[in-house]
Amino acid sequence: MKTLTTQIVIIGAGPSGLLLGQLLSKQGIDNIILERMTGDYVLGRIRAGILEQGMVDLLREAGVSERMDAEGEVHEGYEISNNGETTYINLHELTGGKTVMCYGQVEVTRDLMAAREAANLPIYYESTDVQPQNVTSEQPSVTFTYQGEQYEVQCDYIAGCDGFHGVSRKTIPQEKRTEHERIYPFGWLGVLSDTPPVSEELIYCKHDRGFALASRRSANRSRYYLQVPLDDKVENWSDEAFWEELKRRLPADAAAKLETGPSIEKSIAPLRSFVCEPMQYGHLFLVGDAAHIVPPTGAKGLNLAASDVATLYKIMCRVYQQGDKECITQYSEIALRRVWNGERFSWWMSNMLHDYSGVEMADMGGETFSRFMTSELGYYLGSEAGRRVMAEQYVGLPYEELRD
Ligand code: APR
Ligand code: PHB
Repeated sequence: MKTLTTQIVIIGAGPSGLLLGQLLSKQGIDNIILERMTGDYVLGRIRAGILEQGMVDLLREAGVSERMDAEGEVHEGYEISNNGETTYINLHELTGGKTVMCYGQVEVTRDLMAAREAANLPIYYESTDVQPQNVTSEQPSVTFTYQGEQYEVQCDYIAGCDGFHGVSRKTIPQEKRTEHERIYPFGWLGVLSDTPPVSEELIYCKHDRGFALASRRSANRSRYYLQVPLDDKVENWSDEAFWEELKRRLPADAAAKLETGPSIEKSIAPLRSFVCEPMQYGHLFLVGDAAHIVPPTGAKGLNLAASDVATLYKIMCRVYQQGDKECITQYSEIALRRVWNGERFSWWMSNMLHDYSGVEMADMGGETFSRFMTSELGYYLGSEAGRRVMAEQYVGLPYEELRD
């Protein structure tokens, strides 16, 4: 067994782990990242790319924002189409000037990976059997296998940035964890295509045939989604079938402009709301998807990971720069407050924008639930106060500071 020593072990090299590692390193706080997969595999995951201002600020503070600032697109609003009737949610006007940045998560990850490599900071790809040890003691560590060798990294703290299927959450004893979950009765069929997007900004479509979303990656790369039944299969959908259904659900003017082309990625993803409480256990902290999952309807997944990172980063700076070890007890409470706001917004947007007809629910039929939600959507779209409620949450609620 080879022994290594660092201050913080980060498990996972997704956006959470890489961003945390970059911020800590810039403050001179030593950290090692352990990643189960290869870097190419991590970069192969297609994910949303709507960044709240808080995340944009963090990436700038981390010194990895040059490409984002050059290639990212600032969006001042988005459209919601309700069976073809469109309402513009003017984020900039409704929030006193706030906007969101459209910049693919893969690009964020690529920039963070490049920065870590350029700084020659330790990251162990293809680490296996990663296991936090003695997390409630004063000598926590993480064991893992790398290139056939057994390692133990002695550390002060462990950041579990290893996503929903990682090892960190399961390290918290079951009896110490409370998990909240909702599985949605539909999925999203997503297509990536090298075609000009149908709109400069996003169009969220509520339609009797089902939800659709028109998003983008750049001026020549589009990302589209269709709500499909949970038991649907991607092989049931030819490109042609996808484009025809998308046209039916888009508002007429967008459908008329839709440029179709071969899909370069096509997949179906389930929708889930999930929160694990607490997000800390001894010297182990859960960050991002390791602790929570949101349906993508509110574009909150990456942004909630970023706010977790921001809170843990502030705590670690206070621990190492002011010697205040007590402040670690603030992490879970502060992180969860914002997580639940993001969970609620994502749950609310999912309920309002998807079609529940044909879904059997515990206390009412799906048709009835859909009627309630259609009325809810119409009410919020129909008033400036309602549109402001949507806008404030979409641009992201403020990050909470640590208590003194
Ligand atoms: N050991 C080491 N690494 C692991 C382990 C393990 N046991 N289990 C998982 N990992 C790695 C995964 O391979 C992945 O690269 O942890 C990383 C977790 O990354 P994400 O799942 O992307 O989670 P996170 O970094 O929190 O980012 C959240 O990513 O999945 C999207 O929608 C999500 O936008 C959100 C964002
Ligand atoms: C995406 O571009 O993939 C995307 C954008 C906004 C969402 C979900 C997905 O709400």
